[in-house]
Amino acid sequence: MKKSLINKRFSVLVSGNGTNLQSIIENVKSGFIPAELSVVISDSKEAFALERAKKANIPSFFVERKEISRAEHEEKILKIMRNYKIDFIVLAGYMRIIKHSLLEEYKDRIINIHPALLPSFPGQNGYEDTWNYGCKIGGCTVHFIDSGVDTGPIIAQGVLLRIPTDTFESFKKRGLEIEHYVFPRAIKAFAEGRVEIYTNETGKRVTRINE
Ligand code: GRF
Repeated sequence: MKKSLINKRFSVLVSGNGTNLQSIIENVKSGFIPAELSVVISDSKEAFALERAKKANIPSFFVERKEISRAEHEEKILKIMRNYKIDFIVLAGYMRIIKHSLLEEYKDRIINIHPALLPSFPGQNGYEDTWNYGCKIGGCTVHFIDSGVDTGPIIAQGVLLRIPTDTFESFKKRGLEIEHYVFPRAIKAFAEGRVEIYTNETGKRVTRINE
């Protein structure tokens, strides 16, 4: 039976290389993610992710953030979201914190991928921090955005084992491959309306993925 889609149109926000964007594009194209990637937005003009979007014929925008406040920057992005009638937002290597109008309008509809096993190592350098701490296990976390930094409800995680022959580069490379596996699966579940947020007995907002 075909599932009815609750979340149909989405946008991906990027700042850099865009390997996650690429894996999302491919998973949309193959039909694995049953939603439309309607627009890609970057806060960096040089982001290679913009080239990837162009190559895939997906409308893309660079939204300059210099000389305007964070709130104004979000307002500009929000306008594009409204124009494209976006149902949910995916952050794939987007390096800005979201906390104003965009978060308000898209509460519980913004999904991020973080390169560490949260709640360990929040912040910008998840793989480096995991590696430098000497952890034997790292990974990635897909989670909703809330008003904190990397604190929103966790949707999915992927585990990355550190092996004795690893260099930091090989560790991170495998980490990214795991991201490319986990992220599309989490986006698919969300697009199908199967990600439920609830408050557990300790008062923490958590998720369950329904069949
Ligand atoms: C990924 O490691 C992601 O977890 C983090 O930024 C990186 C983006 O990589 N938030 P890419 O641009 O998708 O290649």
